[in-house]
Amino acid sequence: MFLSRRPDRIDWLKKVPLFSGLSRRDLDLIARQTDVVRTHEGKVLTRQGALGEEFLLIVDGSARVERDAKPIARLEAGEFFGEMSLIDGKPRSATVIAETPVTLLVVDGRSFRCLLDAVPGLRRKISVTLCERLRAADAGLAAQN
Ligand code: CMP
Repeated sequence: MFLSRRPDRIDWLKKVPLFSGLSRRDLDLIARQTDVVRTHEGKVLTRQGALGEEFLLIVDGSARVERDAKPIARLEAGEFFGEMSLIDGKPRSATVIAETPVTLLVVDGRSFRCLLDAVPGLRRKISVTLCERLRAADAGLAAQN
Protein backbone atom coordinates (compact mmCIF):
# COMPACT_ATOMS: atom_id res chain seq x y z
CA MET A 1 0.00 0.00 0.00
CA PHE A 2 1.12 3.54 -0.74
CA LEU A 3 2.22 4.38 2.81
CA SER A 4 3.87 1.09 3.65
CA ARG A 5 7.36 2.34 2.70
CA ARG A 6 8.93 4.91 5.01
CA PRO A 7 9.95 7.33 2.20
CA ASP A 8 6.33 7.32 0.94
CA ARG A 9 5.13 7.96 4.45
CA ILE A 10 7.52 10.91 4.84
CA ASP A 11 6.29 12.40 1.53
CA TRP A 12 2.72 12.11 2.77
CA LEU A 13 3.54 13.48 6.25
CA LYS A 14 5.05 16.60 4.64
CA LYS A 15 1.66 17.49 3.16
CA VAL A 16 -0.25 17.17 6.45
CA PRO A 17 -0.76 20.56 8.14
CA LEU A 18 0.20 19.04 11.52
CA PHE A 19 3.64 18.16 10.20
CA SER A 20 4.23 20.94 7.67
CA GLY A 21 7.43 22.89 8.25
CA LEU A 22 9.06 20.10 10.26
CA SER A 23 12.58 19.07 9.27
CA ARG A 24 13.32 15.90 7.32
CA ARG A 25 14.94 14.53 10.50
CA ASP A 26 11.75 15.16 12.50
CA LEU A 27 9.56 13.66 9.77
CA ASP A 28 11.77 10.60 9.65
CA LEU A 29 11.50 10.25 13.43
CA ILE A 30 7.69 10.48 13.18
CA ALA A 31 7.51 8.03 10.26
CA ARG A 32 9.47 5.47 12.29
CA GLN A 33 6.88 5.61 15.10
CA THR A 34 3.76 5.19 12.96
CA ASP A 35 1.76 2.17 11.86
CA VAL A 36 -0.74 2.27 9.02
CA VAL A 37 -4.14 0.75 9.85
CA ARG A 38 -7.21 0.35 7.63
CA THR A 39 -10.68 0.05 9.13
CA HIS A 40 -14.24 -0.28 7.91
CA GLU A 41 -17.14 2.17 8.10
CA GLY A 42 -18.81 2.15 11.52
CA LYS A 43 -15.69 1.05 13.39
CA VAL A 44 -15.33 2.68 16.82
CA LEU A 45 -11.84 4.21 16.80
CA THR A 46 -11.90 5.63 20.33
CA ARG A 47 -14.58 5.11 22.95
CA GLN A 48 -15.64 7.81 25.40
CA GLY A 49 -14.54 6.88 28.92
CA ALA A 50 -11.99 4.27 27.83
CA LEU A 51 -8.29 4.43 28.56
CA GLY A 52 -6.36 6.27 25.82
CA GLU A 53 -3.53 4.27 24.30
CA GLU A 54 -2.99 5.73 20.83
CA PHE A 55 -2.76 8.91 18.83
CA LEU A 56 -4.44 8.60 15.42
CA LEU A 57 -4.28 10.63 12.23
CA ILE A 58 -6.70 10.14 9.33
CA VAL A 59 -4.88 9.45 6.05
CA ASP A 60 -8.03 8.73 4.07
CA GLY A 61 -11.74 8.79 4.90
CA SER A 62 -13.66 10.62 7.61
CA ALA A 63 -14.84 10.09 11.17
CA ARG A 64 -17.55 11.44 13.44
CA VAL A 65 -16.81 12.63 16.99
CA GLU A 66 -19.62 11.92 19.47
CA ARG A 67 -20.00 12.96 23.08
CA ASP A 68 -22.77 11.19 25.04
CA ALA A 69 -23.91 9.69 21.71
CA LYS A 70 -24.41 13.15 20.15
CA PRO A 71 -22.27 14.27 17.18
CA ILE A 72 -19.97 17.19 18.06
CA ALA A 73 -17.46 17.28 15.21
CA ARG A 74 -16.33 15.65 11.98
CA LEU A 75 -12.72 14.77 11.20
CA GLU A 76 -11.35 14.49 7.65
CA ALA A 77 -8.12 13.31 6.03
CA GLY A 78 -5.13 15.12 7.56
CA GLU A 79 -6.85 15.63 10.92
CA PHE A 80 -5.85 13.86 14.13
CA PHE A 81 -7.51 12.69 17.33
CA GLY A 82 -6.75 10.79 20.52
CA GLU A 83 -4.18 13.31 21.74
CA MET A 84 -6.16 14.49 24.80
CA SER A 85 -6.03 11.29 26.86
CA LEU A 86 -2.36 10.85 26.07
CA ILE A 87 -1.59 14.39 27.22
CA ASP A 88 -3.67 14.56 30.41
CA GLY A 89 -3.86 10.85 31.28
CA LYS A 90 -7.66 11.01 31.65
CA PRO A 91 -10.21 8.74 29.90
CA ARG A 92 -11.20 9.39 26.28
CA SER A 93 -13.32 12.55 26.10
CA ALA A 94 -15.37 11.36 23.13
CA THR A 95 -16.21 8.43 20.89
CA VAL A 96 -14.80 8.62 17.36
CA ILE A 97 -16.48 6.46 14.71
CA ALA A 98 -15.36 5.84 11.12
CA GLU A 99 -17.97 7.31 8.73
CA THR A 100 -16.33 5.65 5.71
CA PRO A 101 -13.61 3.05 5.30
CA VAL A 102 -10.69 4.82 6.98
CA THR A 103 -6.91 4.60 6.68
CA LEU A 104 -5.10 5.79 9.79
CA LEU A 105 -1.59 6.50 10.96
CA VAL A 106 -1.39 5.22 14.52
CA VAL A 107 1.23 6.13 17.14
CA ASP A 108 1.22 4.33 20.51
CA GLY A 109 1.03 6.50 23.62
CA ARG A 110 4.63 6.08 24.72
CA SER A 111 6.00 6.97 21.26
CA PHE A 112 3.61 9.94 21.06
CA ARG A 113 4.93 11.37 24.35
CA CYS A 114 8.52 10.83 23.17
CA LEU A 115 7.72 12.63 19.90
CA LEU A 116 6.23 15.59 21.79
CA ASP A 117 9.51 15.92 23.70
CA ALA A 118 11.72 15.33 20.67
CA VAL A 119 9.83 17.55 18.19
CA PRO A 120 8.88 20.92 19.77
CA GLY A 121 7.17 22.05 16.55
CA LEU A 122 4.75 19.16 16.89
CA ARG A 123 3.83 20.12 20.47
CA ARG A 124 3.08 23.68 19.34
CA LYS A 125 0.93 22.59 16.40
CA ILE A 126 -1.10 20.19 18.53
CA SER A 127 -1.62 22.99 21.09
CA VAL A 128 -2.88 25.29 18.31
CA THR A 129 -5.37 22.64 17.13
CA LEU A 130 -6.57 22.12 20.72
CA CYS A 131 -7.16 25.90 20.96
CA GLU A 132 -9.07 25.88 17.66
CA ARG A 133 -11.28 23.01 18.83
CA LEU A 134 -11.96 24.74 22.15
CA ARG A 135 -12.88 27.97 20.33
CA ALA A 136 -15.23 26.06 18.01
CA ALA A 137 -16.82 24.28 20.99
CA ASP A 138 -17.24 27.62 22.83
CA ALA A 139 -18.83 29.19 19.74
CA GLY A 140 -21.20 26.22 19.49
CA LEU A 141 -22.19 26.57 23.15
CA ALA A 142 -22.71 30.34 22.82
CA ALA A 143 -24.91 29.78 19.75
CA GLN A 144 -27.13 27.40 21.77
CA ASN A 145 -27.65 29.88 24.63
P1 CMP B 1 -9.26 11.81 23.38
O1 CMP B 1 -10.02 12.41 24.51
O2 CMP B 1 -7.99 11.14 23.71
O3 CMP B 1 -10.19 10.79 22.60
C1 CMP B 1 -11.31 11.30 21.87
C2 CMP B 1 -10.80 12.35 20.92
O4 CMP B 1 -11.79 13.03 20.19
C3 CMP B 1 -10.10 13.47 21.69
O5 CMP B 1 -8.94 12.95 22.31
C4 CMP B 1 -9.92 14.48 20.60
O6 CMP B 1 -8.82 14.15 19.79
C5 CMP B 1 -11.21 14.28 19.80
N1 CMP B 1 -12.18 15.33 20.13
C6 CMP B 1 -12.81 15.53 21.30
N2 CMP B 1 -13.60 16.61 21.24
C7 CMP B 1 -13.45 17.12 20.00
C8 CMP B 1 -14.00 18.25 19.31
N3 CMP B 1 -14.88 19.07 19.90
N4 CMP B 1 -13.60 18.48 18.04
C9 CMP B 1 -12.73 17.65 17.43
N5 CMP B 1 -12.18 16.57 18.02
C10 CMP B 1 -12.53 16.31 19.29
